[in-house]
Amino acid sequence: MITNRTFTMLKPDTVKNGNIGAVLEKICASGFKIIGMKLTQLTVERAEAFYAIHKEQPFFEGLVAFMTSGPIVAAVLEKENAVEDFRLLIGSTNPDEAVEGTIRKLYASSTTNNAIHGSDSDENAAIESAFYFSNEELFSS
Ligand code: RTP
Ligand code: MG
Repeated sequence: MITNRTFTMLKPDTVKNGNIGAVLEKICASGFKIIGMKLTQLTVERAEAFYAIHKEQPFFEGLVAFMTSGPIVAAVLEKENAVEDFRLLIGSTNPDEAVEGTIRKLYASSTTNNAIHGSDSDENAAIESAFYFSNEELFSS
């Protein structure tokens, strides 16, 4: 199990609002190295698969509609303690509860339109990374 990697998506609101650059700058300034990145758009089928764990939740339909509403930036990041440190950097799911200076506090407008995704475990980081990238597309040093 690789423990120094996490997976992120800059969600459709971040792309639409012109915040790709600002968010990537914050990620890099916080010590994360980008080892894979692509601008892409989820189909409904792939969004449902990515968020399958939430399929019984009342917010599932809205989540899939939002995540397929425009392009996203998918990226794999490397840093020591990547998963935990990145969750701290992005802040709480609900931006109203996010700590000052976190990406969601700065750029998210609601729990659905919450700017960014971060993996919640090393195991999910590996699964989510493989959802978008082959090993040949990752440039680890
Ligand atoms: P993410 O997976 O996107 O990084 O977000 P997260 O871990 O902070 O939150 P999670 O519980 O995994 O939920 C995934 C996404 O579903 C939407 N959500 N809405 N109560 C609600 O209305 C609600 N709860 C979750 C959010 O967009 C969240 O990012
Ligand atoms: Mg999550």
